[in-house]
Amino acid sequence: MKGLGALLLLVQLLSCKAVPLGPFHPLHPRVIDCDDPESEEAAAIALDYINTHNLHGYKYALNSIEKIKVLPRRPNGEIFVLELDLLETVCHIVNPLPVENCTVRPLTDYVVEGDCDVKLLKLEGSFSVLSTKCHSAPDSAEDIAQKCPDCPIFTPLNDTRVITAVDLALAQYNGGQDGAYFKLLEIGRAQIQHFPDIVIVEFAVVATNCSAKDAQDHVDDCQLLAKDLAQFGFCNAEVLTKNNITVSCTIYEHQPGVTHHHLTQDHLGGQLPTVVQGFKHHDLRHSHHGSVHVTSESSSAEAPVGLTQAIPVVKRDVGAVVDPAIPAPPVGPGPKLPVCPGRIRHFQV
Ligand SMILES: *[C@@H]1O[C@H](CO)[C@@H](O)[C@H](O)[C@H]1NC(C)=O
Ligand SMILES: *[C@@H]1O[C@H](CO)[C@@H](O)[C@H](O)[C@H]1NC(C)=O
Ligand SMILES: *[C@@H]1O[C@H](CO)[C@@H](O)[C@H](O)[C@H]1NC(C)=O
Ligand SMILES: *[C@@H]1O[C@H](CO)[C@@H](O)[C@H](O)[C@H]1NC(C)=O
Repeated sequence: MKGLGALLLLVQLLSCKAVPLGPFHPLHPRVIDCDDPESEEAAAIALDYINTHNLHGYKYALNSIEKIKVLPRRPNGEIFVLELDLLETVCHIVNPLPVENCTVRPLTDYVVEGDCDVKLLKLEGSFSVLSTKCHSAPDSAEDIAQKCPDCPIFTPLNDTRVITAVDLALAQYNGGQDGAYFKLLEIGRAQIQHFPDIVIVEFAVVATNCSAKDAQDHVDDCQLLAKDLAQFGFCNAEVLTKNNITVSCTIYEHQPGVTHHHLTQDHLGGQLPTVVQGFKHHDLRHSHHGSVHVTSESSSAEAPVGLTQAIPVVKRDVGAVVDPAIPAPPVGPGPKLPVCPGRIRHFQV
């Protein structure tokens, strides 16, 4: 009896290994190039996800697809693992422009580079995002000093000079118009130019139910417009002294359904999220909603053993996917390597 049990187990083990794989489910990763249209489609969906889940700061544009890996998934579908190189645009997240229409910051303007590891599921021809892991960093002060020695210095968002400049600029804007009274939503970036000292700031604003005139008497009663009426704007200002301020704001059309709840509820009044204290930009690492890890775990659990082990590694470094657990391809001309990284859409940082 024992022998039979062992034999059955052995047969099961063998048959497990020998599960026939359809022609569309090879055990080894499918090789596609970074600039393949399919890679670009995956990247576009990931980018849209990253931008719509970004809670602070600016929208990001795709600069290049650095790496891509396509793994089979049981019982069907494929897992796409990409590493994306992004660049910050001048569009704040409250700006309704689609990111394709947003200008990437020029190299002389403290470029902020984003780096994201993303995982998507492709099922029946359509992609869904399983997880994203991003961070972003501004070009170093040394780099800027080389590229543009006279450029204004990138300054921490909680610097008192910055906060004062934003308050003065917004007060001037509100005083000079007869529309709604606007409150500060978030400081986006700040630079200080020396000799003469000019504080250059960018900030997002939100409309209240008061007129600018009402607000002079009872500013504390000025509340944000109801959710479905929320109206946002974005300002650029240069503050030399309190009597020498240039400020220009763009107030966006009311966008039905767009509330930026996180910003209006948690950070209104320019309160900086604690993670930004002392920092010069809104890091994508902190600015992001939590990733949808749940689905990613359950889907990878269904993948063949070798891949199940490979997938958690992927979260750290896409390059680590080439796993010893994945059977080597048959001897022959050798594995085809993907052509990566892909083309650079804007510039090399
Ligand atoms: C975005 O750019 C495209 C192509 O340049 C243009 O057709 C479209 O009108 C622009 N959209 C907006 C909202 O500006
Ligand atoms: C704005 O809304 C608040 C709260 O609803 C209300 O108390 C206040 O009177 C309103 N202000 C104006 C000018 O309508
Ligand atoms: C503000 O400062 C700039 C730069 O020094 C100067 O050119 C301009 O005349 C000043 N404007 C006012 C209104 O004082
Ligand atoms: C800005 O934040 C950093 C880090 O929390 C802190 O050390 C610094 O004192 C803050 N600066 C100001 C002007 O509040």
